[in-house]
Amino acid sequence: MKKFYGIVGHPVIHSFSPAMHNAAFKTEGIDAEYKIFDIAPDSPESLANFCYEVDLNHIAGFSVTMPYKQAIMTYMDHYDPLAKLVGSVNTVKIEAHEDHGAPLLLGYNTDATGALAALNEKIPLSPGVKVLVLGAGGAARAIVYGLKECEANVHVFNRTMDKAEALADEFEVESIDYRLITKEAHFDIIINATSVGSTPLPKESILQTHQIDKDTVVMDLVTNPVDTQLLKEAKKAGARTIDGARMLLHQAAGQFEIWFGKPAPLKAMEEALYAKMKQF
Ligand code: ATR
Repeated sequence: MKKFYGIVGHPVIHSFSPAMHNAAFKTEGIDAEYKIFDIAPDSPESLANFCYEVDLNHIAGFSVTMPYKQAIMTYMDHYDPLAKLVGSVNTVKIEAHEDHGAPLLLGYNTDATGALAALNEKIPLSPGVKVLVLGAGGAARAIVYGLKECEANVHVFNRTMDKAEALADEFEVESIDYRLITKEAHFDIIINATSVGSTPLPKESILQTHQIDKDTVVMDLVTNPVDTQLLKEAKKAGARTIDGARMLLHQAAGQFEIWFGKPAPLKAMEEALYAKMKQF
């Protein structure tokens, strides 16, 4: 019987995930369809209902995005240790329960591995590599965790300093004052994990050209738009850049691998992602 997958979030109407996953299913000959499950935040019980009714609706797995990456954890029967450490779930796999038939919901997080894979395309993550992470929300948390695993020398900046300090303490990294983000401080990698530069304020940039060294690789996780003002500032500084589409692709590939236990057809997913992005 045909199985369903999809993305749970709000708003998700413009998500690129259906294009990537449906292309992967087609390439691999998998009889499944990936849909959009838009759940309005003013009715929290619908998230619960959605989780309780997965079996009924033939749902075999789903992606989770804002604002439910933390809230969904309540409904998981098991978490992957990485999801627990990161504190959020972006991937759920449904498994049949042998004893009483009610399915098990297994929670995973592919944001950290997705970000590292995107970085690895441009720069080797060798121990001691000096990285500045901007932000202290869910995305920043996943990335700081992943970077620590690579023994990177991580510094965290956040508008709300307390949050940066708490994150830095938890993962035993440094927190940093905005005034210390200079070209001279030289970071090998700078990652924007804040929402600064996203629609409806696409002209904003969390850093300016004069703060960025030409030997830095600047990655922005913002995907609306993909060519952000921060990446424009970085290019003006002569730095190399990685846009949010690369992480989007690799975190989706990680989801496919969790659901089907085999490598994702990356090329097909990439083509579908870029074709979809052209429509916007
Ligand atoms: P996500 O799960 O995508 O990381 P989040 O948890 O809401 O989303 O985190 C958003 C991040 O963007 C936070 O680090 C937030 O900073 P605060 O903790 O100070 O709120 C950051 N952010 C959002 N708007 C910002 C702005 N205008 N200037 C600087 N940082 C901003």
